[in-house]
Amino acid sequence: MRTQLHSVLSLAAVAAALAGLVAGCSSPMEAAKPVAVLKDGELAVPADYKSWPKFLTAIQRPDAKQVREIYMHPLAKGATAAGGFPQGTVFVMENWAAQANPDGSLVTGPDGKLVKGALQKVFVMGKNKGWAEDFTPVEMRNGNWVYAAYMADGSKAPDNLLTCRACHAPLTSKDFVHRYDEHFAQKGSAGGY
Ligand code: HEC
Repeated sequence: MRTQLHSVLSLAAVAAALAGLVAGCSSPMEAAKPVAVLKDGELAVPADYKSWPKFLTAIQRPDAKQVREIYMHPLAKGATAAGGFPQGTVFVMENWAAQANPDGSLVTGPDGKLVKGALQKVFVMGKNKGWAEDFTPVEMRNGNWVYAAYMADGSKAPDNLLTCRACHAPLTSKDFVHRYDEHFAQKGSAGGY
């Protein structure tokens, strides 16, 4: 009787442990870790972004007198043109001044490309579950993306973050990402990642 009770108890213990394991499997570590719900202006520049894959390199913006570099969080590699970018994606865009000649025209290097001067601003956009879901006005809702802007020294830039939303919002079929098509065209090519 004593032995029977003992084995019933240990069976129960095994069952409880198994249930715990199964529960553990259905919720991976990341999901168990609560993700802070961020608003515009709250997403920091990730310290290690320069080690991330490049989304696009040396974007030529003579109109803005700038050269831009876009980095993407490694999670973004899971993106598909049909499905967009996974939750947890962050893009960091460095806005560099293009060097100018004394007459104001822009300097070009031997490759015909603009030459980078000083770093002006760093723009960040990131998406995650629950972020900006209830953003109003509705026309400015950009899925789960939130925006932030910094000066080169890391201080907050004075940009009105509603302007970010306004210009990215029309891209509903491209997950609100401007260089979407180019990115997927490049993905898998020699120059891609
Ligand atoms: C007038 C339109 C406009 C505004 C305003 C704007 N963006 Fe963008 N953004 C773009 C374009 C266009 C690109 C693609 C890169 C390029 O051509 O310079 C881009 C690219 C980006 C990217 C890289 C991912 C992508 O969409 O390709 C980030 C990050 C970004 N913008 C953040 C911001 C933030 C933060 C603000 C506000 C401070 C902002 N943007 C304001 C037009 C805009």
